[in-house]
Amino acid sequence: MKYQGERCVLAYSGGLDTSVAVAWLRETHGFEVVTVTGDLGTVKDLDAIQRKALKSGAKRAVVQDVRSIFVDYFVWPALQAGALYEERYPLATALGRPLLAKLLVDAARDEGARYVAHGCTGKGNDQVRFDLAVGALAPELTVIAPMRGGMNMTREEEIDYAKARGIEVPTTKKNPYSVDMNLWGRSIEAGVLEDPWGAPPRDIYEWTVDPDEAPAKPLEIVIGFKEGIPVSLNGAKMEGVALIERLNALAGKYGVGRIDQIENRLVGIKSREIYEAPAAVVLHTAHRALEDMVMAKESLRFKAKVAAEYADLVYNGLWFSAHHQDLAAYVRSTQRFVTGDIRMRLHRGNATVVGRRSEHSLYSMSLATYGKGDTFDHKAAEGFIGVFGLPLRNQSRTQALWGPDTAALLDVPKKVAGAKSTAKPKGKSRK
Ligand code: ARG
Repeated sequence: MKYQGERCVLAYSGGLDTSVAVAWLRETHGFEVVTVTGDLGTVKDLDAIQRKALKSGAKRAVVQDVRSIFVDYFVWPALQAGALYEERYPLATALGRPLLAKLLVDAARDEGARYVAHGCTGKGNDQVRFDLAVGALAPELTVIAPMRGGMNMTREEEIDYAKARGIEVPTTKKNPYSVDMNLWGRSIEAGVLEDPWGAPPRDIYEWTVDPDEAPAKPLEIVIGFKEGIPVSLNGAKMEGVALIERLNALAGKYGVGRIDQIENRLVGIKSREIYEAPAAVVLHTAHRALEDMVMAKESLRFKAKVAAEYADLVYNGLWFSAHHQDLAAYVRSTQRFVTGDIRMRLHRGNATVVGRRSEHSLYSMSLATYGKGDTFDHKAAEGFIGVFGLPLRNQSRTQALWGPDTAALLDVPKKVAGAKSTAKPKGKSRK
């Protein structure tokens, strides 16, 4: 066998595919398999997974609770960046992969392995994320993906293969969807969801109630941020993991966080994805609202472009790239004044911002008010508009912008019909 005696570290979920892969890598290639499982917030029983890996033929099974690392080093930076892929997807799966890849690389080094493996198929983004992350962190390692080629088993064949080796197989019918989840969200695809016209069946949702069945009365919450990171809920300080868990439960109860999206995969396929991400939706909305209060107009404009770029790079598996390092430095700098509170109302599928306050707020009541205490210099507006409009007036004159030939450009009627005038318009024209 080609790899007899070589060691291979496999990213192991405890599911059927990766359990079969443990045995397959050993029996077909002669690998000594070490499994690695990271809990990013939704693994129920790490010890059970560890036992199952060993049962499946692993030499060693490493399990790790990496929830707070996930939140501090992956989720919060992405939130600060405002990273929403194609303006909606909060990137839960995409953010989890580089951390799992890092665990693989660490374990490979500990074990002196030259090979790492994952259970991704050849059609999705996840294979790209694993492969690129491993390539960036440890170019000397070789990545093996049995599901991308080689293993080629149908589900029935996998079940028979597992049974023959005493590996526990799922007793329930196969979930008709492909689901991945972590603290930041749940991703659901395939099955009947592949018909983009069909509304998602109710049974795909597990974290959110149907907005129809959510409480009739709204719930108000206050989220406190420090430098772009959520630090409190309703005035009580909270650690990241607990805060996200709490918000997932709370907002999910109010039907908040469902996303139904046609998205562009890196491999060129458009796919229909459903996400449940109550905490992510609430926190992105709140974070953005706070930035609106404390950041200058130009910064907000520019940061929106950076956010799109950042989301793309995360989605495309370039977490461990220099480009990310550079964008992250910019994002971090933008967050120095993003401290304050956002008041939100959760109601039947919506999370609406209803209040905001910050010690660094650029909102000035005395400038904004139409009431008493107005300090804005109304007279100065005239001079400002004169200068602001100078190039437009100049161009209109010199190029006859709205003359007989050019008016059609915007299809404006030559004369707006039906205009009635009672008196001759007064007022001087401006030079
Ligand atoms: N489309 C999402 C992404 O590329 C989610 C993928 C979920 N993976 C899965 N095996 N269901 O990030």
